[in-house]
Amino acid sequence: MTEYSVEEGYRNVLGLKIYYKFFRASDERATVMTMHGGPGMSHDYMLPLSDLAQNGVSVLFYDQFGCGRSDEPDAESKYTISYGVEEAEELRKQIFADRKIFLMGSSYGGALALAYAVKYQSNLRGLIISGGLPSVQFTVSEMFRLIDELDPWARDAIRKYGEMGEFSNEDYKRASELFYKKHFLRLNEYPAEVLKSLEYAEKRNVYRIMNGPDEFTITGTIKGWDITRQLALINIPTLITAGEFDEVTPNVASAIHDKIHGSEMVIFKGCSHLTMWEDREKYNELLGKFINHTVESGKA
Ligand code: ALA
Repeated sequence: MTEYSVEEGYRNVLGLKIYYKFFRASDERATVMTMHGGPGMSHDYMLPLSDLAQNGVSVLFYDQFGCGRSDEPDAESKYTISYGVEEAEELRKQIFADRKIFLMGSSYGGALALAYAVKYQSNLRGLIISGGLPSVQFTVSEMFRLIDELDPWARDAIRKYGEMGEFSNEDYKRASELFYKKHFLRLNEYPAEVLKSLEYAEKRNVYRIMNGPDEFTITGTIKGWDITRQLALINIPTLITAGEFDEVTPNVASAIHDKIHGSEMVIFKGCSHLTMWEDREKYNELLGKFINHTVESGKA
């Protein structure tokens, strides 16, 4: 176990005040920048990754534009993945200057991390994608495969009221709850950090603008986004994880794994989307090993 310090504050990134929290290991061997999902959640639910700082890996969290504690852009046209990539690059330069880092993305953050790597992989030592996606359409089709496996009442409620746009229908809400219990986070009580990120998604605008009314109804600006073919351009060490019951399914993880040459894929048994909470120790152990191995083998 090593010591670490925590620094938090705001940076001016592309003219917006962007919140960050940096867990800096005293005997730092590597640094990881993390990207949260949603789009529209906040870094809070990612905090289990701060455990890595006890093992010499410094970890940077931030709230993306319009998320959590960060400012939002002045025009809805800026709510795009490409804006998110430039924001990440600007923040990386400010915090890490010319040091190469590991980039980790969860869920939508995984999509963002893949898009970042396609453009800026020369700044990265390695890439970690957890419950991430290269194609919104494929991910949604997989989510509907899971919906079709729910109890018939829940399947029918999601399909029927979803098509009618009646997202506040009581049966639709109960069925969505069931889906989230199976495929988002398999814990009876949601941790305070997860609830905080969900609250931010609810009260700020990004989730509605970029995603849509819920996880499987994607009507926002990321609808139709797909970089599957460009993934073959990525040639840095890459680790891909998903939960066995993940709403962003193991088939989606495989679609990334198949395209990134030499990538490693690990599916966590008994887990769903937020593996970092469901199997915190093993999850961080895997990430720590991947990072150490990459650094020691000189691949980075
Ligand atoms: N909406 C999901 C996330 O980004 C896939 O967390």
